[in-house]
Formats: sequence, structure tokens, C-alpha cells
Amino acid sequence: MSPRWDELLKLDHEITERVFAAMESAFESSAGPPPAQVGRLLEYMRDYVDACHNQKEELHLFPRLEARGMPRQGGPLAVMLAEHERARAILARFVPLAAAYAAGQTATLAELRATFGEYAALCKDHFWKENDILYPMAQRLLTAQDAAEVVAGIEAVEAALGSDTRARFHRLAQQIIDEGQLQDLSFGLERDVLAAVLNTLPVELSFIDHEDRVRYFSHEHGHKIFGRSRGAIGMAVENCHPPKSLHLVRQIILTRGGHVTGVIGRKAAHLMRGDDRDKGAKLEDLWIDIGASKVHIRYWPVRNAAGNYLGTLETVQDVTAIRALQGEQRLLAQP
Ligand SMILES: [Fe+2]
Repeated sequence: MSPRWDELLKLDHEITERVFAAMESAFESSAGPPPAQVGRLLEYMRDYVDACHNQKEELHLFPRLEARGMPRQGGPLAVMLAEHERARAILARFVPLAAAYAAGQTATLAELRATFGEYAALCKDHFWKENDILYPMAQRLLTAQDAAEVVAGIEAVEAALGSDTRARFHRLAQQIIDEGQLQDLSFGLERDVLAAVLNTLPVELSFIDHEDRVRYFSHEHGHKIFGRSRGAIGMAVENCHPPKSLHLVRQIILTRGGHVTGVIGRKAAHLMRGDDRDKGAKLEDLWIDIGASKVHIRYWPVRNAAGNYLGTLETVQDVTAIRALQGEQRLLAQP
């Protein structure tokens, strides 16, 4: 059965709300969204939300409601039309700002962010009123013939904009949503701030990529539990372990009794190939004594938002003081 008019319009609302959520997240970063993403948002808001979705209502739904006795002046219909006009006025300010930003003039970011926020807030409130108030009222007023004509009208508005309008804009929306989801909050941090954050963690980090090459370690300057040399960056991880320490690592893992999760054959987790790691079990943690310190070493598979394996992160932490904690220390406990 083909969808009803209200299902089609609610689907437009739902997809648009997801686009807004993705962009709200992108606008949260201090650096702002990528210009290309704003270009796509501009196209979606101007060519779909206003020129397509709102037209479906204004040309085909609202007139039929008026014909069935819902007044155009006063009441929900008047409110909806007034909100469409307000949205159009905000859009008129948004379009030149977004076009400039998409062309690389990112100095417009603050004004663009504020204008987008205004537009999204108005639309979200408007969509809710239509979904929960106007459409249920309309369903009671419209005849089956009216409902079929609204569906035909919706299809006519889409057809006037191209043969695959709905699918084309749904793809555009999905592209904006996907880009929004991939952008982590850390994208808004300057590189030196992010580096300082990593060096401030109470754990030492080492990262090998999906090809088992050493790509990064933290805490390069200052005390480190396990020394690391900058010369190791780019090397295959096997080549970074002298036979003596490799033997030590394996021995530690294998003396923990029986099958140790995270070990395949005689390889420590961080020495396994990516494929083995995926086939194999979860990565296991180790704890060893170095002098009077208890050191906790863990291996974490690192994956991107799409779930693809990017590499393995090793965390090394002196947990001596943590293990010695007794009782509680609360913020408000101080005199
Ligand atoms: Fe709507």
C-alpha cells in the first residue's frame, strides 16, 4: 500500500530533524562544520524544506483544509502559515551566509551558527505542531478523496523538481547526517590542545595502525614507565621489540594459566596481525611489577564510527596509588 499523505509529510519532518541534529553537532565545534557540509545543508534547506516540503502543504494540504471549513485566518492553519513565513525570512538571511561559508569565507561562522539555530528551533517546534495537532485534525476533516488528492499533489510538487526528487534529497540528507556523525567533538580542538590533553592523561598511550606500524606515543617528554624512541615511529611493531623484551612480554601473558584471551599462538595481542585480532578473542590486560610499582597494561582495538579497525592502542598506567585507595574522598568532604 502506498504511503498516506501524513506519512509522507511526517517522513520529511523526521529526515529534516535528523539533518538538524547532525548539523547542531557539527556547529558545536569551535572550528565549525566543513564548508562542503554547509553547502549541502544550504541546498537541503532551500531546495527541499522550503521549495518542496512547505509547498506540498501550502499548495495541496492547506487549501483542502480551508475548503473543509478550517479558517485561514486564526486557528492552527494561520499559525502554520505564519511559521512558514517566519522560516522563509530566516532562510533569506541564512542563504547568503551559508553560500559565503561554503565558498570558504568561514568568518561568517558565528552569524551562520546563530541563524541556523534560529531556523532549526523554529522548524522543530513547527514540525511537532503539525505532526501532533494539525495532521490529526486534518485526518478528521478530509475525505478519502481529499487524502488521495493530497498524495497526488505531493507527488506533483516532487515531480516538478525532477524525476527522482524524493530519493535525491533523501540521499543528500543522509550524506549530511553521515558527515555529522563522523565528526567527533575533538575536531573542534586545536592540534596542540589535543596533544596536551593526551599528554595529560594518567596513562601512557602507544598506537599502532591497522598495518601494525607504530604511529604515535604520548608523554614523549618527561618520565615514562616504558621508554619510547621517536625513531620507532613508522616502524613495523615486530621490529621495535628486541628479542629479550619480546620473550618477556610473551612469558608474562602465557604464565597466566591456560588459554589466555588476547593471545593467538605465541603472539601477544599487540603483535598480532589485524586479521588475527579480528578473528581472535578480546584483548586482555596485563599487570606487572616494576620496582615497587604495579603497572597495568591494556590493549584496545581502535575502530572508527563505521566500526572499521584502525589499529591497536596500548595504555600503560602505574596503578600503585590507585590500588592503595581506602574509604572515600568526596568534593564536599573538605572543611
Ligand atoms: Fe511540514
